[in-house]
Amino acid sequence: MENFIAYNPTKLHFGKDVMDGLGSALKEFGSRVLLVYGGGSIKRNGIYEKTIHQLKSINAEVFEYSGIKPNPIIEDVDNATELGRKNKVDVILAVGGGSVIDSAKIISITIPVSHTGWDFYSGKAQPEKAIPLISVLTIAATGTEMNPFAVIQNKKTQQKLGYGHDLIYNKHSFLDPQNTFTVPRDYTAYGIADLVAHCHEAYFGEGNASLSDRLVFSINKEAIDYGKDLLENLDNYDLRAKIMYAATMALNKSTMPGRVSGDWGVHSIGHILSLLYDTPHGASLTIVIPAWLKFHKEIIPERIAFLGKNIFGVNTADETITAFENFFRSIDCPIRLRDISAGNESKKEILKLMNLNKVSGVNHKLTDQDRAEILNLFY
Ligand code: NZQ
Ligand code: ZN
Repeated sequence: MENFIAYNPTKLHFGKDVMDGLGSALKEFGSRVLLVYGGGSIKRNGIYEKTIHQLKSINAEVFEYSGIKPNPIIEDVDNATELGRKNKVDVILAVGGGSVIDSAKIISITIPVSHTGWDFYSGKAQPEKAIPLISVLTIAATGTEMNPFAVIQNKKTQQKLGYGHDLIYNKHSFLDPQNTFTVPRDYTAYGIADLVAHCHEAYFGEGNASLSDRLVFSINKEAIDYGKDLLENLDNYDLRAKIMYAATMALNKSTMPGRVSGDWGVHSIGHILSLLYDTPHGASLTIVIPAWLKFHKEIIPERIAFLGKNIFGVNTADETITAFENFFRSIDCPIRLRDISAGNESKKEILKLMNLNKVSGVNHKLTDQDRAEILNLFY
């Protein structure tokens, strides 16, 4: 077991009607608020009104930036940064999913410096301080509500990259499972897939940490035991709550103590599919996980089988892979490239971008040859 430091400064407000406390949380930091949100779901489901009610209750001056896209792009980060800078905002309020919150995280460190958002990704800039960030999470998936990571896409450089820094933790995150009732069936499933993938990345990371492994099994089992039921009962509070909490736990560093690192090979490959085909994040991962496992089954058969035994009750690496495929199918996620309408002709462009981005795991490193072999298993 490796040495570790446990640190997580986000105050998580979880449960029914927790948004009632949003105004007072915002007030801690000031009254000039940059409100960031996505393509309009919050206007259709009433979360926008609830947010504005809270802002009015503290007489906030609000500057709105809307239109953050799923698979968020750096241009929106820079435009919202401009708005925040010009109006000297005291605090940022992100209302949405991972795309909105990740964008807000980078906006929070870009406003105080004379750099663009991408400069943090390219290594040209280091954050000096951050405008305080508060989030209302509306979809269970990424764990961004309680972690120091932000993933942004840059079409010009053909990259979708993650960035991590302690300054980008949310100060407060508000998670009311009722706010996720309107998440459509497909995105609900992609969120479940994402949390399973975060368990995968932790488990296949470097280091020997049995308690962290057991947490991975428990979180995974929440997804496996309740995910399918949730898809049949999209407005069931308890099922929404279980999945929402599981998604937070899957990537708030709880599964990391004692490990050297996670792996992240599956994610780095998945990001290529999102870049090329705008594939929703979770849907990209359910295509990659079976292929990644098949490629690694001769290299780490026991490790794969141990995961399968603990979450599906199966005995071998092959059975584990089949169980994952069956589970992803059961929640209507794609497991082959053809499921997202990308045929054989896609092979060349995917491989080109995989190699250009040198996609790899931190623990299980991938060569050009490995990438080509994994890609063959997508079909
Ligand atoms: O844009 P709006 O109109 O709000 O609609 C969104 C979007 O179309 C919709 N939605 C969200 N809440 C809803 C809702 N629709 C109805 N009712 C609601 N309550 O759902 C769609 C997807 O939203 P998005 O924010 O893109 O989803 P998600 O939370 O899955 O975030 C995905 C992004 O996060 C990154 C992914 O790569 C991707 O870019 N990730 C971030 C991580 C992190 N920061 O730690 C880790 C992850 O591995 C991941 O890479
Ligand atoms: Zn993910």
